[in-house]
Amino acid sequence: MSLLIGSGDVFSKVAIDELVGSLRSKGWCVLDDLFSIDLIDSLVLEASLLPRAAMQQAGIGRRSDYQVKLDARRDSILWIDADTVLRSRFLSVMEEMRIALNRSLLLGLFYYEAHFARYDKGGFYKKHLDAFKGESNRMLSTVLYLNNDWQSEDGGELVLFDEFNTVKEIAHIRPEKGRFVVFLSESFYHQVNPARECRHSIAGWFRINSSKHSRVDPVR
Ligand code: OGA
Ligand code: MN
Repeated sequence: MSLLIGSGDVFSKVAIDELVGSLRSKGWCVLDDLFSIDLIDSLVLEASLLPRAAMQQAGIGRRSDYQVKLDARRDSILWIDADTVLRSRFLSVMEEMRIALNRSLLLGLFYYEAHFARYDKGGFYKKHLDAFKGESNRMLSTVLYLNNDWQSEDGGELVLFDEFNTVKEIAHIRPEKGRFVVFLSESFYHQVNPARECRHSIAGWFRINSSKHSRVDPVR
C-alpha cells in the first residue's frame, strides 16, 4: 500500500514505517528510495544550476548571533520558498511527511524549513548540533543528497556521533543521489567531512512552535 502525495509523488507506506520505526528506536534513519526518481532528478538539475550569485556563504547561529565562520563551516546556501513549481512540489512532499510523522510520533511538528547547500571542493562543516536543548525549536534534521555518481574517494561523508558518547562515530554516510537522512536535532552531533568534489544537498528542519505570549517564534 502506498500513500499518494502531491502531484503524483508517492511515498511508500513501508518507507514511512521504516522512518518512524528507526526514529522511535534509535533517533536517526537513512533511506535511499523515499522520493520519486523524477523529483530527485529535477532537484539534482536545479541544485547544479543555481547561480553562485543567488547563494550566500553559510554562517552559524541565528539572527543577531549569526556569523560566517569559515573555520567551522564552508558551504553556500539558498533557502527554499515555494516560488517555483519544483520548489513548491518539494515543500508539499515535505508537508506530507510532516503530517505523517505527527500522526505516528505525536511530535507536534509545526513547520519545515530547508535550504539548498553547495559545498565546493574543500567544503566541510565541523562537528556541531543543529539545535540546543531548550533554546531552539528544531526537532528533526533532514538531509537529502543530490549528487550523481558520488564516489567514496570524493569524501564529503556525513558523520553521525553517538547520542550518549559524543566522541564515538556511529555512521559515515555517503552523500549519494536520493539518499535521505533524518535525525533528532538536539541529540546527534554530526559533521561533514571535506568534500573533494562539488557536493549538493537540501538540508532541512522540522520545527515545533515555540511562540509564547507576545514573542512570535522567529522563522529562520
Ligand atoms: C547542516 C548539516 C549535513 C550534510 O547543514 O547543518 O549538518 O550532510 N548538513 O550536508
Ligand atoms: Mn547540521
